[in-house]
Formats: sequence, C-alpha cells, structure tokens
Amino acid sequence: MATADPDTVAAFGAEMRQKHFAFAEGYQPLNHGSFGTFPKSVLEYQRQLQFESEAKPDTWIRYTYLDLLRASRSAIAPLLGAEAGEVVLVPNATTGVNTILRNLIFQEGDVVLTFNTIYGACNKTIESLSEFCPVSSRQIDITYPLTDDDIVAEFHSALQHVKASGKAPKLAMFDAVLTFPGARFPWERLVAVCREQGVLSFMDAAHGIGHVELSHLGSVGPDFMISNCYKWLMVPRGCAVLYVPFRNQHLISSTVPTSWGYLPKAERTAMSARDYFNKLFEKVSTIDNTPYCCIPKALEFRSKVCGGEAKIRDYCFGLARQGAARMATILGTEALEDDSRCCFATVRLPLTLAELGADGDGPAVAKWMQELTPSEYETYIPIKFYAGEFWCRISAQIYLEIGDFEWAAATVMKICDRAKSREWKGQLPAVR
Ligand SMILES: Cc1ncc(COP(=O)(O)O)c(C=O)c1O
Repeated sequence: MATADPDTVAAFGAEMRQKHFAFAEGYQPLNHGSFGTFPKSVLEYQRQLQFESEAKPDTWIRYTYLDLLRASRSAIAPLLGAEAGEVVLVPNATTGVNTILRNLIFQEGDVVLTFNTIYGACNKTIESLSEFCPVSSRQIDITYPLTDDDIVAEFHSALQHVKASGKAPKLAMFDAVLTFPGARFPWERLVAVCREQGVLSFMDAAHGIGHVELSHLGSVGPDFMISNCYKWLMVPRGCAVLYVPFRNQHLISSTVPTSWGYLPKAERTAMSARDYFNKLFEKVSTIDNTPYCCIPKALEFRSKVCGGEAKIRDYCFGLARQGAARMATILGTEALEDDSRCCFATVRLPLTLAELGADGDGPAVAKWMQELTPSEYETYIPIKFYAGEFWCRISAQIYLEIGDFEWAAATVMKICDRAKSREWKGQLPAVR
C-alpha cells in the first residue's frame, strides 16, 4: 500500500473539500453515511476505465476486468484482516445480505435474531424469506442511550428465551455501526457470544469499512460480513465487500442473482469449495464493473493524500465528538453519545411533541423537517423521531470542519422554529 506523500498530503476540512471533492459551491454535504462520495482522482480513474471498456467492450469485460478485480480483492483484504480468497465484491449491502440469507438452509423452528435497530431493507429481506422458508425472526428491542454491556446482556437473554421456547437460534444479524441512531455496536462481543452458543453470526457492516477499524475482523471471526465500499471507503457507488471465511464457503451455492458461476451440486462438489466460491462471484450477470476496480485508487488517495486509515478515523471521530458537543451547546440539548467511536454525531433537537399540539405526529413531522433540508437549505440532514424525541444525524468527514456543524445547528434551529409554528399543517408526508 502507498505511504503518505508529504507533497500531496492535504489539510482536512475546507482545503480537502476544495482540492479533492466535486461538491457544488454552496452545497453542505452533511450526510456522507447514506451514499458516501468519492474524490475527484477516483472519479477520473473510473471515467478512464469506462472509456477503456467502451473502446474494446469484449476485451475489457472478459479479460482486463478480471485482473483488476483480483487486484481489488487483494488490496481490500488486509483492511479486514482476511485473505483475498475470503472476500468478493457485490454491488451493495442489500445484495450481500440477500446472498447470505438466500443460501442458508433453514429448518422448521429456526430463528434469525436481530435488533430493532436493523436497517429496514435487511429486516424486509428476512420477512420475505419467511414466506418461503421455515424461518422466523426474533427482534431484540433496545433504546438508546445504553451501554455495550446492556446490548450484550439483551442479546444473551434473547438467545436464552428462544432456546427456552423450543426453537433454534440459527443466525444472528447485527450491525457494526447503526444507521440510526449513529452508534458503534459491540460486534466483537456479539460474535464471541454467537460462537459460544453455536449460532451463526452475520455482521452488517454497511457503515464499516473506511469508517471503523476492521483489521481484526478475520481474527474475531464472524461467520459472514458485508460492508459497503461506496460509503466510507470512497469507492464509486455500486461496490460492497462480502466476507465469507474459508470455513463457510461451502455454504454458498449461488450468487444473487444466480448467474454463470452456478453449478449443480454434483458438479460443484467435484471442485474445492474455495475454487467454486471464487468462480461464483467473478461474473455475476452484466453490470458496470468499474466501481469494483477503483478500490486500489481509493486506497491510494486515502493513504497518499490523507495519511492513512488511522489518520482519517482520528480526524472524523474527533470531529464527530466535537461537532456533536458544539451542536448540543448551540441547540441547548445533548448528544446521544459523548464518546468518539464513530463518525456520526446524533444530536437532540430543541423541539418536543407537546410543542406541536394535539395533531403533531412525531415521525411525520420529523420527515417533513428532513425534507425541508434539500428543498430549502442546500443540504440533507437525516431527522428522526426516536424514543419520544427529535434527533438529527450528521456525518463527520475529512472535507468538513467544526464550522459546518455550527451551520448544521443553526439550520436545524430554523427548521425547529418552523415546526413549532406548525407550518407542516396539511402537508405531512406519509412515513412508511
Ligand atoms: C446498516 C445498513 N445496512 C444495509 C444498508 C443497505 O445498503 P445498500 O443500499 O448499499 O444496499 C444500509 C444503507 O444505508 C445500512 O445503513
């Protein structure tokens, strides 16, 4: 991996934004967590690959791409403490979740354990699975603020509960970092509990790679892990890394969608599970594969221009903590967490349900406020009604600085005032 180059290292904050990112003048990018973004150097590299593939489509897609794919898998594996043969690329986290869940064989009485903080589309995947597999789910309800010990205790107790009811906890799905509220989850401890209890562990690290440290993942040893590269690793959209350790590769018989790599059981058992797994994911139908090939370029940027993963994390975690504290001071409220274990700042808004009057529907008003942010304020700020209060989530990133959090606080303050004056009357959006 490339080392930091003193001539190209750029200061984080406004200078980084101006030199290396493509944001429109006047736009406030406060929501990296949803779709991420990637630097101009990676964008140019992707465009170059797209030109090359259009110059010779068959040559590029059939041959050149395979070499680039191998280079990407080798480059990304160390970030997960894994071997290149244990990581494959898929377009997004939802595809990864479907790939694992639709390959496992469930029997009557099998239960998938999740937390109520699970990402909605993942929950729907489990619901959909239960229409044609004999599987049910058990959701563990948690409400922040709470500690890692609380989460692990709730998990233990749910496992015992499922076992006592005569059912079999087959798989547990949990996040590395929650979508909302933005908080780091004690995934290492949950993996350990799963191993002790004979339950498969599947970590949804959609917000993992490039965000939190994962280089110990291989040694912690979850059974499966999916992580979006397009979010925090700054790879173009359409790229996620799926980790299946060698010991579990025999469980995966098909990609989603099933494609050319698939072989019927009799044929695939004639080859090693590793070779089959590798082949399966090399060509899954036909899509724009250039995002997969941009991993080395994104890592080069993060290393040469940003000074490496640890430096990025330190800056973003520190900014999230300081930014959350500054916003809480300006708003006269509090941050959900005051530690610095992820890039999200989740801050309470100075607005109560009582102030909205009898017809104030919390989730709908939160959505109304959220929708004002792109339409009137040149930004996007996730705003949710959570545990009886209104909260916003800001993503710290290397192109932001504390002044951006001050701007965010001033903006949500204006929006809260508009909500208090009931401007939303007659305009509330549907929530689901
Ligand atoms: C925790 C979590 N899981 C899964 C997803 C789905 O990601 P994708 O849209 O890339 O499938 C997201 C998206 O933000 C997420 O936050």
